Amino acid sequence: MSTLIDGKKISQDIKDELKEKVSGLNAKGTEVSLAVILVGEDPASQVYVRNKKKACEYIGIRSISHELPDSTSEEELLSLISDLNKDDSVDGILVQLPLPSHINEDTVIKAIAPEKDVDGFHPQNVGALSIGQKGYVSCTPAGIIQLLKRSNINMDGAHAVIIGRSNIVGKPMALLLLRENATVTITHSHTKDLKEITKQADILIVAIGKAKFVNDEYIKEGAVVIDVGMDRDENGKLCGDVDFDSVKDKCSAITPVPGGVGPMTIAMLMNNCVSAKGEI
Ligand code: GUN
Repeated sequence: MSTLIDGKKISQDIKDELKEKVSGLNAKGTEVSLAVILVGEDPASQVYVRNKKKACEYIGIRSISHELPDSTSEEELLSLISDLNKDDSVDGILVQLPLPSHINEDTVIKAIAPEKDVDGFHPQNVGALSIGQKGYVSCTPAGIIQLLKRSNINMDGAHAVIIGRSNIVGKPMALLLLRENATVTITHSHTKDLKEITKQADILIVAIGKAKFVNDEYIKEGAVVIDVGMDRDENGKLCGDVDFDSVKDKCSAITPVPGGVGPMTIAMLMNNCVSAKGEI
């Protein structure tokens, strides 16, 4: 059996470190605050938003909730964002995605002030990451780097293969791994001979959104496997993009689903909120 990378424990450690920092800030009279905007009633989004607010409460970050009806117009949402951008008592702004189809996500993301964009989705923050400048980094890939670092997994010189090229995970993941001196390959749905490439990976990051897609044929002996998936199997049970039972004895370390990458996303969002104060 390989090592289980315990995202629940590592995310708890990070949240405890942040709680201490925030309590130090509070003692100096400084508050950290996050505005959370949810439009509509998507059940998954409601759960994510609830968990984000719970994490804020745990750490001592003030969360300001804006739950808007599905009928909210793009103009109304942009006007709220504009008000929050100008409000000095708001450090971070998070608009939960997906948005209802009549609202253009790109327009909304661009409307958030880059210095309050704790999701790291604004083109300015994405651009900063790509040229190695300071800025907010998308939370899931940032969380994966923390999982690897805190599990003492060497990235320097390692061949990291990513399956998936999304703006939120695959692309920023590649840039962050490059920053750690990994040799990076990005694969996707049009990649030919996928298995031949993934079998070369020292670190395999799987973010394709297909339940149990990666089995032991896709990995080399001793690889580190990071599963970003959040899927349902044939029995409706929560599972990842990796067939855990098939690969667990072939890899050297693996993240479980649930309890792997998932909890890290919120921990890194909290980290971004605290760093909005310029204190970390
Ligand atoms: N929807 C799914 N993941 C995310 C995320 O990381 N941030 C936001 N704002 N919405 C999401």
